[in-house]
Amino acid sequence: MQTEHEQKIKSLLSQMTLEEKIGQLRQCGPSLVGAFEVSFEELLDMMFDGRISKEEFDRLMGTAKQDFREDDLKAGKIGSYNGIGDAATVNRLQKIAVEETRLGIPLLFGYDVIHGFRTVTPIPLGESCAWEPQLWEKTGRIAAKEATAAGIHMTFAPMADVAKDARWGRVSEGAGEDVLLNGMYGAAKVRGFQGDSLANDDAMAACVKHFAAYGAAEAGRDYNRVDLSMQRLYEEYLPAYKSCIEAGARAVMPAFNDINGVPCTANQWLLMDLLRGKWGFDGVTVSDANAIAECVSHGIAADQKEAAKLALCAGVDIDMTSDTYTACLKELVESKELPEEVLDRAVSDVLRLKLELGLFDHPYQTDEEREKQAMQKPEYRALAREAAVKSMVLLKNKKQDSKAQEQALLPLAVGTKLGIFGAVADKRGEMTGAWAIGAEENDCVSIVDACKSRGISYQLGNEDTVQEVAAGSDVLLAVLGERKDESGEAASRADISLPAAQITLLKKLLETGRPVAVVLFNGRPLAIPFAAERADAILEAWHPGIEAGNAVLDILFGEACPTGKLTVTFPSATGQCPMYYAHINTGRPGGKSKFTSKYLDAPTEPVYPFGYGLSYTEYAYSDIQAQRTGDAYEIRVKVKNCGDRDGEEIVQCYVQDVAAKRVRPVKQLKAFEKVPLKAGEEKEVRFQVQIQELGYYDWDMHYIVEPGEFVFYAGGNSRDCLHVSVTYKP
Ligand code: NOJ
Repeated sequence: MQTEHEQKIKSLLSQMTLEEKIGQLRQCGPSLVGAFEVSFEELLDMMFDGRISKEEFDRLMGTAKQDFREDDLKAGKIGSYNGIGDAATVNRLQKIAVEETRLGIPLLFGYDVIHGFRTVTPIPLGESCAWEPQLWEKTGRIAAKEATAAGIHMTFAPMADVAKDARWGRVSEGAGEDVLLNGMYGAAKVRGFQGDSLANDDAMAACVKHFAAYGAAEAGRDYNRVDLSMQRLYEEYLPAYKSCIEAGARAVMPAFNDINGVPCTANQWLLMDLLRGKWGFDGVTVSDANAIAECVSHGIAADQKEAAKLALCAGVDIDMTSDTYTACLKELVESKELPEEVLDRAVSDVLRLKLELGLFDHPYQTDEEREKQAMQKPEYRALAREAAVKSMVLLKNKKQDSKAQEQALLPLAVGTKLGIFGAVADKRGEMTGAWAIGAEENDCVSIVDACKSRGISYQLGNEDTVQEVAAGSDVLLAVLGERKDESGEAASRADISLPAAQITLLKKLLETGRPVAVVLFNGRPLAIPFAAERADAILEAWHPGIEAGNAVLDILFGEACPTGKLTVTFPSATGQCPMYYAHINTGRPGGKSKFTSKYLDAPTEPVYPFGYGLSYTEYAYSDIQAQRTGDAYEIRVKVKNCGDRDGEEIVQCYVQDVAAKRVRPVKQLKAFEKVPLKAGEEKEVRFQVQIQELGYYDWDMHYIVEPGEFVFYAGGNSRDCLHVSVTYKP
């Protein structure tokens, strides 16, 4: 098959004109025409700075026409589209490509299917808190089934960007702060999206992004510089992308940012030496939107022509929407400033993917009937609900009753009357979170919808009606956090605490004396020290997807037992960002004494540590042991469900290299297991940690595993662990 593909590529290349080759590298988004006199970007700005309302924006968009540049398409000058997600349009454009262009090369359609297409599942950050690769794969699979039915061949996902800084809005799109988890999450998504074979009509190519280290943007400000030691890049960021490539991802998107001064879009070392050379990647690379043109703003190219040359030579195959290749490559090749072989290599990558996707044999992989049948099957909605339940993290569950004894507030008893507060509790459109562009508002179940359908007695309140609503309610629900447009791309925040109005509301609710449960909707860790101290219960719901309301009530009323654990640290103040569990000790670890590494005005410890999450039952750990078994250590620990409810505990295993040539993190996650435990049941959990995994990059960038003491930790979060030491001798 491979040689067949390579022969076909060779034969096509020999027939293609320069324009046709360049066309294969051009990815267009449909541009909007008519309906308004300003550009789309200006219109977006107008909405964001409040000159027009969101409703007015939506109305204008609804009346705009899309321009698919069909003349260019017929002339063979377009190879792929981005952002078209309906079978009728896809097939109409595909027909032009296949029947009306000189060589009949089919189009490739890419789309941001980030956490579901129509059946929107939790945002990736939320879903990562399930710590369950099979679940991640299954939701990836249903996303592919729906998206391919709408004509999509490639998703711009997974995002494998490790994100340690909660200010960065795109924390929501990945699996949090840990490199192992991001790699496992990304690999599971690749398997889910691509299925058994890319040639199947329900498989879409995964485009791993944003390569590399986009999540390390300075100060958490989106698109900002990334200045990292090579050791940290190799240890803490790159392995997550590598796992995705090893899982078979056929596409990679270079990141917007620079790394140590060289933008990823023009970074030969990154895209050629490392990705294609060392890692052996032979798929396609797709620039991020407009990123090739932006090499000029980065100050790495004098003009568009230089940008085009730099990007192509660095190994960027497809130009997403900047049209820089279209404008400049012909002249560059004709003037011999750019060897045609460089262009041919990129075109080959694009053709290869189209062949692998079976597009030459089956250019029309769907139709409107399949599209209609494929969406939101009952089993997909059931999976979305399961994923949402498993994503949610119970952060607090205590109630101060009149006898000053602490008791759990949750689960609520059947018949509990709720007073519901907070702007998003009844907003269906807010349930999905960032990047849910295929979702429809009426697909979503809000908290209020779920109360109605279950016959739960509730009243919807606001700041002015606190007293009267509280008087008729047993428990108050404060639905707080972020709107969906407050996380995601271009949504960095300089302050990640709850807005003043939400704190005021929470205080008023607490003053009523009624128990208050906070339900958080958000796309990043938030600084919530007040809520953490005063609320009776806190459920972190993230942006849970279309089954949001049902999943929240499943947990609040105890039909489901919470199992999720944080994959990000919750700091107590924004000024502590970046705050993450795998930090180093420093020479003066933060402590009571003044001259230690800490802030004067914030605690040293986070509000909630990485790996943390409560349940409706409790677990006790005992008997940790570590034993060398050949090339690995086996770590054993006993876990007991001490409560009276069945549950599932996410048991985590960390390691620390106590003394090394370079300072090492105080803990690094090495393994985990989700263990079902019946009430009263105890199990021994065993982890295998390969000795090879205990190493790091030394000053000269050699990967070494040093003899000496290692401490293994096991527990239910990164803070509260049992530990055992071993002495490693090679
Ligand atoms: C920009 C974003 O950075 C990227 O994640 C996304 O896939 C593209 N736009 C396409 O929408």
